[in-house]
Amino acid sequence: MAHSQIMNLYILVPALLLANTNAATTPNIVIFLADDTGIGDIGCFGNTTLRTPNIDNIAARGLKMTQHLTSEATCTPSRASLLTSRYPIRSGLASPTGMPIITNVASPAGLPPNETTFANLLQDKGYVNAFIGKWHLGLNCEKNGDHCHHPNRFGFDLFYGMVMTNARLFDPGWDYEVVFRVRPNRVQQVAIVYVVGLLAGAVLKRLGAIGSRGFRLYAFLVTLLPIYTFLLLINWPWLNGVWHRNGDVVEQPINFQNMTKRLVMEGTDFLEERSQDKKPFLLFMSWLQTHTFLHTAKEFEGVAQHSPYGDNVEEMDWGIGEIMKALDRLNLSDNTLIYFTSDNGGHIEEKDRLGNRAGGHNGIYRGSKFQGSMDGGIRVPTAFMWPGHIPEGTVTDEPTSQMDILPTLADVVGYSVPKDRAIDGKNIWPLITGRAKMSPHEVMFHYCGMTIQAARYRPRGEENAVYKLYYARPNWNPGTEGCDFMCSCLDVTWLDRPQLFNVAIDPSEKSPLDINAKKHVEIIKHINKAKTEHEKNRNEPKPQMEFFKAAFRPWLQPLCSGDHFQLSCSDPKYGANTSWPEVVWPPKS
Ligand SMILES: *[C@@H]1O[C@H](CO)[C@@H](O)[C@H](O)[C@H]1NC(C)=O
Ligand SMILES: *[C@@H]1O[C@H](CO)[C@@H](O)[C@H](O)[C@H]1NC(C)=O
Ligand SMILES: *[C@@H]1O[C@H](CO)[C@@H](O)[C@H](O)[C@H]1NC(C)=O
Ligand SMILES: *[C@@H]1O[C@H](CO)[C@@H](O)[C@H](O)[C@H]1NC(C)=O
Ligand SMILES: *[C@@H]1O[C@H](CO)[C@@H](O)[C@H](O)[C@H]1NC(C)=O
Repeated sequence: MAHSQIMNLYILVPALLLANTNAATTPNIVIFLADDTGIGDIGCFGNTTLRTPNIDNIAARGLKMTQHLTSEATCTPSRASLLTSRYPIRSGLASPTGMPIITNVASPAGLPPNETTFANLLQDKGYVNAFIGKWHLGLNCEKNGDHCHHPNRFGFDLFYGMVMTNARLFDPGWDYEVVFRVRPNRVQQVAIVYVVGLLAGAVLKRLGAIGSRGFRLYAFLVTLLPIYTFLLLINWPWLNGVWHRNGDVVEQPINFQNMTKRLVMEGTDFLEERSQDKKPFLLFMSWLQTHTFLHTAKEFEGVAQHSPYGDNVEEMDWGIGEIMKALDRLNLSDNTLIYFTSDNGGHIEEKDRLGNRAGGHNGIYRGSKFQGSMDGGIRVPTAFMWPGHIPEGTVTDEPTSQMDILPTLADVVGYSVPKDRAIDGKNIWPLITGRAKMSPHEVMFHYCGMTIQAARYRPRGEENAVYKLYYARPNWNPGTEGCDFMCSCLDVTWLDRPQLFNVAIDPSEKSPLDINAKKHVEIIKHINKAKTEHEKNRNEPKPQMEFFKAAFRPWLQPLCSGDHFQLSCSDPKYGANTSWPEVVWPPKS
């Protein structure tokens, strides 16, 4: 054996041993999911007035993605897809109504128990997994406490968070008076429905279709409905302000003061336990920020420009920094894959109770949250980092999807993706590590609710070409890129002639391409064919967010856990004796 070969063996044998025992094949995974944060809110994506040093640092030490997409432009469907790698219509979480999210914790809608998440697959591989923060994918199916949609069912050993979402209605200053001030039309609408309802009853009585008793019952019900709705509305912070630790309700209503600090402390505790037991882990930090209402700890009130929205962005960035620091302190950073992203784009129509703008900013991209066809709703700020595995300071403009996470982790960790169902994501690990230059996606569909309203096509081997085809456009208020509060997926204009853009060179979609040009005719044909095939093989279950299924069911209402009935409770872990993390903001560089 030649000398050099012996040398090689010396190098090879320890390398092989390392490869087998080295945690390199089972990296830890930390996911930071922002809520409603727009791509234009983050420093490394071009924001010059907000400070996001910790997110910028992830991008600088890894890969920044400028065309990473969510499957829809709202929380519930987008989060379902991120976890399952499937378009939300396949899990029944694409909405057929104008309301695209779960609006009551006491409703049976949620992630179906037969879905498999990447956390389930990692758990099978020996990972310990935590989900901290906002879930918004349901709780119970039939009985209070069956927890058929609970994160513990989907591969998370620890759940500390809320099954619903942060919302304006949690704002202590946000009472019904504000609701009517911000949306004066609502009062008129309710009054009109009420009067018309009563008149219709009177006409029926006049015609003899109902008797006096029938009319009284009818009038009673017509009166009850607005009262019922009103009671639900003003009690919303208690009904939906339910905070869980695993299966137990530990806090109701939620005390949002210092909430980001609590999430950080739970995440840090979890990391400390893993550094003790040395088990590989997935830590999913699902921030309540930067969704309204914009609660911030005292230390962040007014620290940023664009306050209070800016304060929220900066507080979330601080939280990310704290988790990154804990990874460093525990010597976990080298073996941890980090993924930062947002569940949908910024909500440009959102206002606070004073009527000031309170939503995110989508940079050069058009439209808003709730607009599934528009890049402003679905193109989210994204970065990956894993020292030694992902080249530092890289950027990709290739189109990718949050649905890619499940198959990508499968490649990294070595589990196999479920074979008994359609998986819509692709393995983008070669792209992330710079070994591939092109996205594995050819055609991607942009759903709004249950319909495909646009699609994207990345032709193979062509430079600077990502075509986006519109079938429908939201009906924006004139002079804006939004509607009143939100654009409904049902209130759109279906186009007689589709619109085509090349977003690789025209990301703001200013110059529609000539759809009669031969090349473009072919492109449109190709996209249409893929769409028809996708729709034919979709096999979707019944939608879960139908009006009645999504409605409040009192018997599904979770209440504080414990031996005796209590109307309110607060997490005993946090109180007067808590040693809160120290806040240094802005960080000293
Ligand atoms: C930064 O983000 C804030 C908050 O969304 C926004 O108002 C501002 O226009 C952004 N600035 C830039 C330069 O993009
Ligand atoms: C919030 O945290 C601060 C310290 O950072 C502490 O002084 C304060 O008491 C906490 N508030 C609550 C309600 O726990
Ligand atoms: C830190 O972790 C690396 C592996 O990621 C290991 O090689 C090194 O010995 C650890 N250092 C300490 C001080 O534990
Ligand atoms: C889950 O069950 C529903 C209803 O039976 C079915 O339509 C759906 O295809 C199933 N999903 C999976 C992933 O098996
Ligand atoms: C704080 O006090 C509560 C009881 O009031 C206790 O359960 C908890 O463990 C204490 N926390 C700390 C950090 O000492």
